[in-house]
Amino acid sequence: MNDHPPFRTNLRIKNPLCLSLDLPEKDNALGLLRKIGREAGMVKSGPVPFLSYGEELLREAENLGIPIFLDLKWHDIPNTVYATILALPSPAVRMVTVHALGGPSMVKAARQACEKIGKERPLLVAVTALTHLTEEELEAVGLPDRNQTVRRLGSMALESGADGLVLSPQELSMARTVWGPDPFLVTPGIRPMDVHVDADDQTHTATPETALSLGSDLLVVGRPILRAPDPLLALRKILGTIGR
Ligand code: C5P
Repeated sequence: MNDHPPFRTNLRIKNPLCLSLDLPEKDNALGLLRKIGREAGMVKSGPVPFLSYGEELLREAENLGIPIFLDLKWHDIPNTVYATILALPSPAVRMVTVHALGGPSMVKAARQACEKIGKERPLLVAVTALTHLTEEELEAVGLPDRNQTVRRLGSMALESGADGLVLSPQELSMARTVWGPDPFLVTPGIRPMDVHVDADDQTHTATPETALSLGSDLLVVGRPILRAPDPLLALRKILGTIGR
């Protein structure tokens, strides 16, 4: 099992489980953050929580000492991405995402902004090809097949200063073969064996144990915990399956 080294930043997480707090309602989300957030290694906020109650979420995470993965997938001109990262509202933000498709200069600018924050800087993670894109859609936007696209964009992002990548579990083996042990690899699409989520739209899934054994550093889990009758129990059960 990976022992989650601090990598190139001072990011220290107590375990590799990241709770994806995809809840539109502030009271629900903050209640859950207080109740179970400290048992997860990180808590992820996407655009919905961030735009709805982001300030309070970050303040609460800061008070509770919970590292936040702010997953807003920036894709803009380098100057804007640089300024965006320097405008981060809270030291609780310990990981951010950009789209590799913003190109080398954008990823470099993002890394420079992270460095400027100092030794408690957020980890910079790049998204290659979103998993919903079919081969037809990739072609429609002028990109080669998924495998080539992920490899090309991943290599470019890592060479430009990204600390890691967001990948589907199916891409982990290739990623470790091509890029070695260093990049911090983040995987959504995690489904514990005993969990069936209704209307599930994840097509590339793996169990927490499998994703870790294939080299994932961070398992992003939302609905299997959020929709469980007892979210704390669901989170603890997942931690149990990975020996935490
Ligand atoms: O509920 P679930 O465990 O599927 O949540 C996964 C989280 O990871 C969601 O916040 C989703 O937006 C995000 N994500 C994903 N697939 C990707 C990239 C991000 O599910 N390819």
